[in-house]
Amino acid sequence: RLKYSIIITIFGVSGNLAIKKLIPALFNLYVHNELPARFMIVGFARSKLTKADIRDRIGELLCSRTNPDFKCKTRERKFWDHFSYVRGDYTNPADFKKLGIILDSIEEEFSRIQSPHSESAHTVCIGDIGDQHGRGHGDKEEEDEEEMKSRRDEEDEDEGIISPCAAEELAGGRRAHHAGTGDHSQEEQKALSGTISTLSALDNDVCHRVFYLSLPPSLFLITSQHIHKHTRATHGNTRVVVEKPFGRDAKSFTALHNGLTRCFTRKELWAIDHFVGKEVVLSLLALRHANAVIEPLWNHHNISYVHFEFSEKIGAEKRAYFDKYGIVRDIMQNHLLQVMAFLASEQPLSQHSEDIRDEKVRLLRCVHEIEVTDLSLGQYYGYGRSKPKKVTAESGMKDEKDEKDEKDEKEEEEECEFPGSITPTFACALLKVVNTRFFDVPFIMTAGKGLSTKCTRIHVGFRKKPASLFPDALPNELLIEVQPEAKIELTLSFKKPGHGIKLQQGSLSLLYETGLNSDSRFLAAYERLLMDVISGNQTLFIRDDELREGWRIFDKCIKKTESNPDVPIEYYDFGSCGPQHILKRVQKIKEGL
Ligand code: BG6
Repeated sequence: RLKYSIIITIFGVSGNLAIKKLIPALFNLYVHNELPARFMIVGFARSKLTKADIRDRIGELLCSRTNPDFKCKTRERKFWDHFSYVRGDYTNPADFKKLGIILDSIEEEFSRIQSPHSESAHTVCIGDIGDQHGRGHGDKEEEDEEEMKSRRDEEDEDEGIISPCAAEELAGGRRAHHAGTGDHSQEEQKALSGTISTLSALDNDVCHRVFYLSLPPSLFLITSQHIHKHTRATHGNTRVVVEKPFGRDAKSFTALHNGLTRCFTRKELWAIDHFVGKEVVLSLLALRHANAVIEPLWNHHNISYVHFEFSEKIGAEKRAYFDKYGIVRDIMQNHLLQVMAFLASEQPLSQHSEDIRDEKVRLLRCVHEIEVTDLSLGQYYGYGRSKPKKVTAESGMKDEKDEKDEKDEKEEEEECEFPGSITPTFACALLKVVNTRFFDVPFIMTAGKGLSTKCTRIHVGFRKKPASLFPDALPNELLIEVQPEAKIELTLSFKKPGHGIKLQQGSLSLLYETGLNSDSRFLAAYERLLMDVISGNQTLFIRDDELREGWRIFDKCIKKTESNPDVPIEYYDFGSCGPQHILKRVQKIKEGL
């Protein structure tokens, strides 16, 4: 268990992301005893709310997601002791000064509390700042005893755990990565371990501050300036987590980046892409670089296409953000591009965070800017326009009926989510990776909302065996399913049982959930990523050079297609498989036609 303390401030705590993802993820980490013993979550928002209101909004979400064997309700009550709500305005410096004072007082409280690793350890609870409703006293004593016992048990196991963040601070920035330090020379390792042993003692005084900007992008800069001026960490690291959108194009990204880096260093900025936190996406590194059978196949001699498929049943749900950004920026330019970087990059020098990110950037730099002709767009009916009615006018009634139809259509159009909008809800892009390994292999991305399924899949198609004994055998495909199931499947041809030799297709399948050892836990993306922020591991966070490459690849085609009424949009029914012509084109590319 981590020995330092941590304060996580969530700006925009009343929003969907915080309520549905961030707080439940922190709760799960808490339930599994993965958070430092001394931690506090401070929710900050403009709304006139109390801690009880936030708790009500979250409702049953916390316990419904955890193992029912945990004494969840008891744990939940205790979890809320680590939460405070602060009301404030993002543009008002006085509110940030107030927040700074609150954070300082929490730290003071932490330092008064004896080390959670000593015999007399007790629960770290700080009263709610906005709302004084506490638990019944009798209740509390009983729970504290239980908590003390479990903490003592945990402490026994804690010996020897070091803080990577503290090591990073004192080791001149070259941090001991918890997944391995294979990239350090022997001298470096020695120096580092010397530093680390000194540090374990000091860790108890370290308090890192995480600031999660779960906010509209228009508030990123002003909030950052206030954090920088009034609420920085004084006895630990400041870590500022930023969610996409990272700008709307290359130019606005640069402006945002310049603004943020006026306040924070590269090590303090944590650009999050929650897809990277998904179990299967991360396991691409292992699939690629831990298996001797994969490497010889992973090139243009054997691979005929790679298809990244994202589909969702839900539509845009009237989110103004979506209408402003569209599916290409919402899903492809970040989530799918990240998946592609993990799938296609070369083996990093080590598991060190910078080595892994260096390799991803190197791959992205080999990807050509997408041509306008390689981007096809679609939109579901009911988003910007309604489905046209077939005119079945009979002679004599034509004029009257046409007029009626027109009126109906106009009314229906007004009922659309964004009447008149041409923002794409479906897109297909063809990417070209110009390096020796993947030369001429089409990398296809399709992403859409309002479709018949929810899934994220990677299809790696293999070339047909030349001069085969079975010329009709279907080519092999490796399916990597990120969601809904986490699995990897390889389709193979085999002999159909019975007389003669007829072929049939089947698959070798690796299901993550059933393949789990009893000591492994399937983490939700935000659990993993929040834990990485807390423990100071930046591997899965997107570096500014990766973001810049992402914009370079997509900028030109987005600009040329967006708001251009001459660019064709193929419409599709909500809940269908998507725009048929575009899908046929994808099929043709896969078949090499
Ligand atoms: C978000 C997009 O980043 O990812 C949403 O803004 C999308 O439009 C969501 O629905 C999908 O995430 P997940 O994890 O549910 O697949």
